[in-house]
Amino acid sequence: MLLTKFKLIRLMSGILETANFLFLKLLFKKPQNIRLFPGRIFRNYMSLVGQDKWLCKSIFELFPGISGKRIILEHLTGEGIETPLDELAYLALITAVKKPENIFEIGTFRGRTALNFALNSPENCTVYTMDLPPNNKNDVLEEAGKNDKLIIKKSEPDIEYKGKGVEYKIKQIYGDSTKFDFSPYYGKMDIVFIDGAHHYNAVIIDTKNAIKMIKQDGVIIWHDFAIYGDYNDVTRAVLDCIPSNRIIQIDSTTIAIYFPNPNS
Ligand SMILES: C[S@@+](CC[C@H](N)C(=O)[O-])C[C@H]1O[C@@H](n2cnc3c(N)ncnc32)[C@H](O)[C@@H]1O
Repeated sequence: MLLTKFKLIRLMSGILETANFLFLKLLFKKPQNIRLFPGRIFRNYMSLVGQDKWLCKSIFELFPGISGKRIILEHLTGEGIETPLDELAYLALITAVKKPENIFEIGTFRGRTALNFALNSPENCTVYTMDLPPNNKNDVLEEAGKNDKLIIKKSEPDIEYKGKGVEYKIKQIYGDSTKFDFSPYYGKMDIVFIDGAHHYNAVIIDTKNAIKMIKQDGVIIWHDFAIYGDYNDVTRAVLDCIPSNRIIQIDSTTIAIYFPNPNS
């Protein structure tokens, strides 16, 4: 995957890297989906090769204790965002195996991932989830990319966990993550999940704050990694913050993780 901020060059190189006969068939049969082809092929390539610009491993290699774990999933329609069920299951499995006391999510949207963290964590876990204040989202729109602008307008934090049995675990926080003071949470989080703004500056700031919030034996998770389109900024920003040989993509997904202590 070519990591450049120039989208057109990136997409052209993505086509050169991945195009084959199936690419042409898709182009004729369903041209509206052609932009997804390079990313999907590339992520499968990563899963098969295991190491390129970063590492790629199966969930069993990453968390040997995960075998036999049971998880609960509440699958909800994306309402404009696409989180495949396997990605939701991996987040739930990581939660089940880590048994976290504290999780921090940047980017609630409607609360689906916060709900699933709550469903799979111990009773005493607190899931902090942050999104923009509903009546004050305009400040960030100027810097936001095209997809983020649509998502920000549609976000309704809490709608998907309100009234559910595990709601008591979830603490909704409102703020702009690029300006928020995270210091009360430093060193306290078992899991930090970064899924807020996807432009370069925001991911750099969110990642630096996540590094300060995570415990030594915790895990930082990014969504929307290894994507060719607008969200490619996530990959570039993560690799600019953390050495690439410490970033591990989970099998064929857009999830990347980092263990501050590789032996934890
Ligand atoms: C992709 S969605 C999160 C999806 C959610 N984690 C899920 O899978 O259900 C990104 C969210 O980040 C929020 N967001 C965007 N920029 C932000 C910022 N600077 N600070 C806090 N939240 C932000 C958006 O309002 C949106 O709801």
